[in-house]
Amino acid sequence: MENVGKNVFVTKYSELPVNLGKTVLVGEKSIALFKLSTGKVYAIENRCPHREGVLAEGMISGEYVFCPMHNWKIGIVDGVVQAPDEGCVSTFPVKIQNDDIFIVIDDLDNPSIKNPDRCVYNESFNK
Ligand code: FES
Repeated sequence: MENVGKNVFVTKYSELPVNLGKTVLVGEKSIALFKLSTGKVYAIENRCPHREGVLAEGMISGEYVFCPMHNWKIGIVDGVVQAPDEGCVSTFPVKIQNDDIFIVIDDLDNPSIKNPDRCVYNESFNK
């Protein structure tokens, strides 16, 4: 059976500031949403793999966010922690329709949602 993703509306594109993270909740999952200076929007797990810093509150530089707690550098597009640190956070597909931003969730029981230690990269569908 084909698995159709569920689009969860999170915010308006026009209301999302550039280069400033926003925390959104999908179910009980906290997700960090970022609109980069390219205009593209990405969603990653809102929890640093080091000691759970809130990534939506980090400083953004290009396609990276610096964790506000101890400055780990994490890729916003692929969720990968940059050397010398290690690890990754899950990423979630983003869909933009007109002015609406959706996060695409196959299922709230999706392992990437349930198990925060599993890193999953999902392609986003930006305009
Ligand atoms: S909690 Fe993110 S760098 Fe320590």
